[in-house]
Formats: sequence, structure tokens, C-alpha cells
Amino acid sequence: MGMRRRCPILSCETHIGGRAEMPVKPLHGFIRGILRRLLTGEGRIVLTSRVPSLEDRLGGIEELGLYLHIPFCRQICSYCPYNKELYHPEVAREYVRAVRREIDLYSSLVGQKPVTSFYIGGGTPTTMLNNGLREILDHVFRGFNMQCEIHMESHPNDLSKENLDAIKCLGVQHLSMGVEALQDRHLRMLGRPYTARQAREAVGRAKEAGFKCVNVDMIFALPDQTLSEVEQTGRELVELGVDQVAAYPLFAFPYTQMGRDGQADTHSKSGVIRRRKMMRILEEIFYAAGYERTSVWAFTRPGVPKYCSVAVPLYLGLGASGGSYLKDIFYLNTFNVNEYINSLEQGRMPIALTLELSEPRQMAGWLYWRIYETRFRKRDFQKRFGRGFDSVFGKYLRPLSWVGLLRDDGEEVVLSDEGTYWLHVLEDLFSIDYVGKLWGVSQRDPWPEKVVL
Ligand SMILES: C[S@@+](CC[C@H](N)C(=O)[O-])C[C@H]1O[C@@H](n2cnc3c(N)ncnc32)[C@H](O)[C@@H]1O
Ligand code: SF4
Repeated sequence: MGMRRRCPILSCETHIGGRAEMPVKPLHGFIRGILRRLLTGEGRIVLTSRVPSLEDRLGGIEELGLYLHIPFCRQICSYCPYNKELYHPEVAREYVRAVRREIDLYSSLVGQKPVTSFYIGGGTPTTMLNNGLREILDHVFRGFNMQCEIHMESHPNDLSKENLDAIKCLGVQHLSMGVEALQDRHLRMLGRPYTARQAREAVGRAKEAGFKCVNVDMIFALPDQTLSEVEQTGRELVELGVDQVAAYPLFAFPYTQMGRDGQADTHSKSGVIRRRKMMRILEEIFYAAGYERTSVWAFTRPGVPKYCSVAVPLYLGLGASGGSYLKDIFYLNTFNVNEYINSLEQGRMPIALTLELSEPRQMAGWLYWRIYETRFRKRDFQKRFGRGFDSVFGKYLRPLSWVGLLRDDGEEVVLSDEGTYWLHVLEDLFSIDYVGKLWGVSQRDPWPEKVVL
């Protein structure tokens, strides 16, 4: 999950039409309010249905990333927070036409600005492997000045030798697959449609296919999972030679089946400590095997280009639920596939919700993602905002460096493993509730009037 579009596993609270989305813990809400005021000086975040004029917004941007969302899966997993529906070939055909129209609307606005990262996520992009994906990609490459390679998510059951060849022929150089666990009992609990043996075989075939990076997603802190099972999965993935492992703790988003059933322990104190223990086991395994930490949840073999959802800070999101971040504005397409298709058929942008970003909010957002990536250079902040990093955030970082959560050599800030984990737990106070609310509302209502976070 590689959660950036998102970020795979982000965190987030909302109400719409006066209806509460999920119970907000008073203490969490209180801490969140204080932090938000401290970092941005602002109150609640309000997304509205106003569709912005994008010409001026794209003007001052030098380069951008592209995200394409494929909202189809062959099954719906009970724990999955992403926007998706069951795959139907006829709907996928209409989706292709709609995405092509969206590309046309953007390509005149973007012009020759280089697109320096391209990520195809879902859902399950490989559902459309032989039904329209090639057409969309051709259109992307015709419509934009593409200066980058293609990263794509896939499902283990879609990775036959033949399909892997087809994926390579599309020009995908970086492939991610959702393995999730390597014990049959956990795969059954998650409702995954393959055995551990079949998952290992799919990883082996993907490795043999010769991608620049094969990323494997795994989920840990599953119900009843033991520490030794986590260890076994980590070790096996290293033995299988995967280039990158993204290991996410199981999150139960309130609007998913699993969230409603209350099966997973996402928020309790003991849950947070248990996840830290499991993460420590994984850190030991991956560091011993020479991997480096490349984000809160990802470990990458040195020399391998990191597989990640968005490599540049500004991006356009295509497709149903695609989110775009253009310096001073964030907006989100409608999540509803039919509505997405209809609005493009009528020549309208499928944008459902927009958030204006003041400079303090942009800075806080910048810091959020740099913490997610576990390291950053202060001069990148200076370049983006024209202000010294220390003059804005120095006073918050200094105490963190005294207690060993990060190292600051004056130019670069690098989070320690403890800092990475605990600062992300803090970030989750925002992201779990915010994403949970925003995505929950958007999945229920294609065109919400507004969402208050
Ligand atoms: C879009 S899916 C991956 C591609 C494909 N659809 C699949 O299932 O294999 C993205 C990843 O997010 C992670 N993920 C999904 N739901 C999660 C949850 N509730 N908690 C933690 N990780 C989750 C899984 O590791 C999953 O592989
Ligand atoms: S985990 Fe993957 S296959 Fe399952 S519903 Fe989510 S996107 Fe689809």
C-alpha cells in the first residue's frame, strides 16, 4: 500500500450531512486539534464540492507525477480500504474510454511539462491486462511528456508466465504484488484466493521475469499471528530474493467489512506495542540481509530503485477516486465508477471534492510525507517554500533529536527506527481518521457537498 495516493495505509474523522462517520476518540481529537494548530495555526479541514479552474494551478509547476487508479478486482477483500468494485469486462471497456477523455482534458493543460513518475494502482490493475490497459497506457504516452518508468500493482493470481510477459511488454519495469502472508491459515482468514505455496511460486516467476524491482506487500499483526510467523514470512521473502518488501500492520478501516466486524485491533495501546515488536523483528531480518529502510513500511535492497507510489511531491490522479496534489490545492475524483464515466462522457472533469491548501498546510503536508519517507534534506524545503526549514520546524525537531528519534546533521534529517515508528503513530492520529472519514463518505456518496475533517 504503498499507502501515498496515497498512501496505502494512511490514517484519518468526518461528518457529512450531520451524520457521524465513526466515533472519534476524545483524546485523539484533542491531541489532533493541538497538533494541527501548532503546525498550521488553522482549525478544521473542509473539503468542498467546488471544482477549481486548473489552468492557473498548473502554471507554476515544473514537473509532476501521474497516478492512475484501476478500480476493479476479481474479489472484494473484507479488510481492503481502497476504492474498488468487482471486475466486469463491459464496465472496464467504458472505463477505458472515460480515462482516455480525462487524459485529453489534462494533456492540453499540462503541455510539455515532464511527468517524472507514473504509478498504476488499484484495485487490481492486472484485471485489465488484456482488456484496455494497453490502450490507456498508449494514450498516456501520447498525451503527456513522459520522462519516467512505469510502476504497477498486481495480484499473485494474475502472474502466470504469459501474463508476466504481457506486463513486461506494456513497459512496466517495477512490479508490486500483494502476497500478504505466507501461512495458509492467515491467507484463509484474509480470504485470499491462493495458498502460501502458490504465492511463493508467483513471487519466483515475477523475480525470473527480470523487472528492475519486484515489491511484495505483506500484512502483519493479523489476528492470532505469532511473532515467529512474522519472522518466517520476513525470512522467506528475503530467501525468495524480492527487491523490496512493504510490510503493513493490519488496519481495520471503519467502513470495511473487517472494520464493521471489529476483528482487528488497530487502535489500542497493546496493539500499537505489539506492532512495534513485530516491526522490530522485520527490521532485524531485512537489515541483516542488507536491505535499507526506504519508508515507514518499506525495505529495499541497495542499488534497487525504490518502488513507490509517487516519487515527486506534486501529482495528478487519473481514474475514479484519483487524487491530485498541485502545490496549493488537493482534489479528489468521484469514487463512483459509473458517475466517473458519466461525467467524462458529458465532457466534465470528474472532480468531487477540493481542498485549498494555505502555505502552513502545504508545509505540514510536506513534513508529513518526508517523515513517511524517514529522511529529507532541508534544502529541498528551502527550494519548495523559499524559507529555511529550521526557521519553520526547527523548534519541534530539536527535542526529537535529543531523545534519539532522529539525527540532524544540519543538512539532512534521518529518522531512527524508533523515531520512524513512533512519529508515524503520531501521524496516524490524523491520517487514519481523516482517510477513514474522507474515503468512507466518498464511497457512499459520489458527490458529497462537503467533508469536514
Ligand atoms: C491495492 S492492494 C494490492 C494489489 C492487489 N489488489 C492485491 O490485493 O494483491 C494494496 C496493498 O495494500 C495492503 N492493504 C490493503 N488493505 C490493508 C489493510 N486493511 N491493512 C494493511 N494493509 C492493507 C495490502 O498489503 C495490499 O497488498
Ligand atoms: S486487497 Fe487487492 S484484491 Fe483485495 S479488494 Fe483490495 S485491491 Fe482488491
